[in-house]
Order: sequence, then structure tokens, then C-alpha cells
Amino acid sequence: MTQDLSAYWMPFTANRQFKKAPRLLTRSEGMYYWDDRGRQILDGVAGLWCVNAGHARPKIVQAIQAQAAELDYAPPFQMAHPKAFELADRIAKLAPAGLDHVFFTNSGSESVETALKIALAYHRVRGEGSRTRLIGRERGYHGVNFGGISVGGIVGNRKMFGTLLGGVDHIRHTHDPARNAFSVGQPAHGAELADDLERLVALHDASTIAAVIVEPVAGSTGVLLPPQGYLQRLREICDRHGILLIFDEVITGFGRTGQPFASQTFGVTPDLVTLAKGVTNGTVPMGAVLVKDTIHDTFMNGPEHLIEFAHGYTYSAHPLACAAGLATLDTYAEEGLLTRAGELGGYFAEGLHSLKGEPHVIDIRNVGFVGGIELAARPGEPGKRAFEAFLDCYEQGVLIRTTGDVIALSPPLIVERAQIDRIVESIRTALRRLA
Ligand SMILES: Cc1ncc(COP(=O)(O)O)c(C=O)c1O
Repeated sequence: MTQDLSAYWMPFTANRQFKKAPRLLTRSEGMYYWDDRGRQILDGVAGLWCVNAGHARPKIVQAIQAQAAELDYAPPFQMAHPKAFELADRIAKLAPAGLDHVFFTNSGSESVETALKIALAYHRVRGEGSRTRLIGRERGYHGVNFGGISVGGIVGNRKMFGTLLGGVDHIRHTHDPARNAFSVGQPAHGAELADDLERLVALHDASTIAAVIVEPVAGSTGVLLPPQGYLQRLREICDRHGILLIFDEVITGFGRTGQPFASQTFGVTPDLVTLAKGVTNGTVPMGAVLVKDTIHDTFMNGPEHLIEFAHGYTYSAHPLACAAGLATLDTYAEEGLLTRAGELGGYFAEGLHSLKGEPHVIDIRNVGFVGGIELAARPGEPGKRAFEAFLDCYEQGVLIRTTGDVIALSPPLIVERAQIDRIVESIRTALRRLA
């Protein structure tokens, strides 16, 4: 039976190309998907940076099933259910000290909007309402809602959508292949790029700036690591000027870089952290914002019957998501997954960097279980060469991901050495036969 594929307008997809040669996944378990042709596909990207514990983990599956039968939904406004508090507590305990409060959302994009709104409202509540400006970074990805694309810095995601949010500016991105190509781990050069924030302070005055948002490791723009010392310097500049620092850890959260959060891997504590993806192992949509206690406490003022922060979603702290989240955190803890990328990251890095010298490869970047392999763009056809590598690997039974001409890898944290080898060798094979 041929399925009609026309009604579904697919997100971030070349719809016409896809529908001519569909790639349909029908089942998953552990490190593998199966497609509609019955082929087993090794997952080199944790679905979409989210299935950190691997697929169809029994504890998580059972928790979701049991929750659906016990309490399907509870309103999150002026009401709650116990697992929401339990999950918030568990997430806060994993986070750096001081990041003690959790606001639940349903996606990374919503977490970003929420964090930006908390930042603006915080300054207003404490009497510095002139701080309305939000600063992002070139090449940043913060989801697809209006706040996120305004502070984001990927032109293709911005140019179609009018004037975006007012009062936003951007610091420079940190990609510097001339000095840093083929760095293993954090690149040595570029800490001084954080000083770009001083330029914006000089231009706009600190009294107008609410917050700066950056990804500690930028993913969607093609895996860009923070140069050594860069995040520390950004933190110092924010402190000097009373600017809140937001880390968007939607992809780096939950073990991706070798610690529960990238802020721990890099030793820099922000004021707010946006999360999603790995919080439920990708099973039920959920996002969260971690908030510093001093920020949270600033809101807890005034008459007690009044709502302190006029924001939230019908599905904030959804019972199914909370049940999935708790079982996910159990699975991570029982199997030591949140630090496994630190333990096996060296092997992953060696595999990746063995691709240096293969055709078209102009840079390789890595941290924990994150890998970026940048290819030279084919003249006049940006992104096409990497996309062909993606298709080739898929035919070989390995799922990778590309963004522009960068192959981005983020395997589930349960990945074994032989599976790392297979991912790397599939890419090598694809590169050798690509034009
Ligand atoms: C850093 C970052 N922020 C935000 C998002 C948006 O998350 P979502 O697609 O769940 O809205 C993503 C998604 O990849 C991301 O990588």
C-alpha cells in the first residue's frame, strides 16, 4: 500500500526531495532504529540530540504507560501534581549550586522564550526596568519562536520573518577556522571574542541590557565549541555590568559534554539555563528553565494571593512528561550516563579526528559525545555535499545529521566503541565516494 504523504508539511525538511524518496522510521530500541524497509539503522544522533539513554528504555516506557492510566492531565495553573515538584527537585539537584528553581515548558523554543521573559521581568521587578535589551550571538540557534529567532543568529531562520523583536543585538560568533581548525576539544584561540560584549555595552550602555544568551556549545549552526577561557570572560563581563547570562543547554544538557550540564564541564555558572530534549529522553515533549535562587526570590514579593509571574503553558509539567522525566533521570543515574561522554569521549574524538585528510574535510570539532565534521562546500551548492553524505550513510544503515556543510554527530550516551567505529567508517566510506 502506498501512503499519501502530501498532507503532512514537514518541519525543517526538504519536503519535495523527501517525498520522492521517503525515509520512514517505524521502530526503535537501544542504539537502533528500524525503517519501513525493515532495515536496522544505527542512531548516530540520539534522534535529534534528545534520546540520550537510547531508545525504548523499559523503565521510561513503563512510567509513561502507568502515568497515562493513573493521572492523564492536571492543570498547572493554581493546581499541580506531586511528580512536578519531584522532577523539579531532581533537576535542580543535578544543576550547579544556586540554580535551584525550575520552570517547566514543552520544548527548547519555549524554554528560550521563558528565559528571556524571566530576564526582562526580573530587572523590572527589582526596579531596573530600563534593562530591556537582549543580546544574542551570531550563528546562535535558540529555537524558532520570535524571541529565539531574534536573539538567534542563523540568517536562514530569520530573514523571512519581518522585523523580529526590537532592541536586540548580537556579539560575534566564535568560529575561527584559520586559527583553530582540527582542534581536539576546546580551541585555544578566541577568548578575546567575548570582549565583543564590551563593545555592545559601550554602544548601548549597560543600563539598557537585560541579558546575554549563548549556547555553551553551538549545535545547529554546525558544532562550534567555546574557545578556552571564552565563557569565563563572558561571565566576568556580565558580572561587571549587571547583565544576566543565559546558557542555552537544550542540546548540551543531560550528559552530552561529559557532565550533567555544559556549565559544569566548562566551569562557568550562568544565571539561567534553558533545557529540553534529554530531560525526558525525547519520549514526551518537555522543556525547562533553571533559575538562580536570587532571581526567583526577587519575584516572591507583594501580596501572596497574586500571581508572581504571568507566564506558563497548558502543558507545563504535564504528568506524562514528569513521569518520563523521573524515569529518565533514574536511568541516567543507574547507568552512569551523565558522565559517560567524559569517560569515552577520548575514543569518540580519536575516531572523529581519524577522518582528517579524507576528501572534502576542512575541520573537525569535538567535545564529549558531540562531533562536527566540516566539509568544503561544493561551489554554488552550499550544503549539498554534506546532505549527500547523510543520504549515503543512511543507505549504509547509519543515521547522521547535517547542518549546512557540517556533519553533526551526537550519539546516545550508551554508544559502544564498536558503534562509534561503525559511525566513523560509514562517514569515511561516504566521503570517499562523494563528488
Ligand atoms: C540550543 C537550542 N536551543 C533551542 C532549541 C529548540 O528546541 P525545540 O526544537 O525543542 O523547540 C534547540 C533545538 O535543537 C537547540 O539546539
